Amino acid sequence: MSGEQSDFWNGAGGDAWVAMQPVLDRMFVGFEGLLADAAAARGAKRVLDVGCGAGAATVAIARRLGPGATCTGVDISAAMIAAAKERVAYDENPPRFLLADAAAHSFEAGEFDLLVSRFGVMFFTDPAAAFARLREAIAAGGGLRFIAWRTPEENPFLTTGAQAAAHLLPEMAPRLPGAPGPFAFAEAGRIGEILAAAGWARIEVEPVDVPCAFPEADLRRYLARIGPIGQALREADDATRAAVLEVAGAAYEPFVDGEEVRFTARCWSVGAESP
Ligand SMILES: C[S@@+](CC[C@H](N)C(=O)[O-])C[C@H]1O[C@@H](n2cnc3c(N)ncnc32)[C@H](O)[C@@H]1O
Repeated sequence: MSGEQSDFWNGAGGDAWVAMQPVLDRMFVGFEGLLADAAAARGAKRVLDVGCGAGAATVAIARRLGPGATCTGVDISAAMIAAAKERVAYDENPPRFLLADAAAHSFEAGEFDLLVSRFGVMFFTDPAAAFARLREAIAAGGGLRFIAWRTPEENPFLTTGAQAAAHLLPEMAPRLPGAPGPFAFAEAGRIGEILAAAGWARIEVEPVDVPCAFPEADLRRYLARIGPIGQALREADDATRAAVLEVAGAAYEPFVDGEEVRFTARCWSVGAESP
């Protein structure tokens, strides 16, 4: 595997996500039930979680569906897949975790009846080609249900620190609309076009707002490792790091509620059918 996304998720990006996994899992726990409910409502028996990361959603779905179902998580990051396997070491009906590029892997035709993802499908270089290929892995009559972020403006929790500390980090990469990354699917119209071009039918893109929280004690560690600041700080000297975390930390004050950080994740819940 090679490429910018693979390098990122097999390097500092994947390491940061694994290190922060307990915090991220707590933050995004609301999405686990949403995807597990969708899988249960469809009576899914063979589920593929794309960009499964350390497997929190895969495991939640597998537990909800029970032993009659098989769940598979696929991820491009070796560190994330290792963390996912560790998580299920003692599960009775563990999901299978596969290290592969979901956009290029040769799944068997019709191997699954449902594709799910929690924030794992916005990183494809050619999303229409990736979703066309993934559709082949879904049996006729099967479907997909994934969660992706809406716009940066609707999700200030993801952008506040970078905006506040931008003057200290001139090297910070600018965000390009539609480029692979958390906001690649911010525009509902683009999601519909991509899925339609990939041959999916009955596409629905619905807004979903999910309350998220995590301990305030983890905020600086989170800012230092995840998102645009985390990325920019990897190359920074100690003085810059301290200054950035001071400024960014202060900018997050409006999100602090006692001992918790709270925000609303404003996302799309995307569904489609494999015709
Ligand atoms: C934002 S993380 C979300 C992880 C996980 N779904 C969660 O909610 O905790 C995005 C994940 O997508 C994975 N990813 C990115 N591109 C991928 C690809 N082409 N194939 C498989 N996984 C990919 C990354 O390695 C990373 O684990």
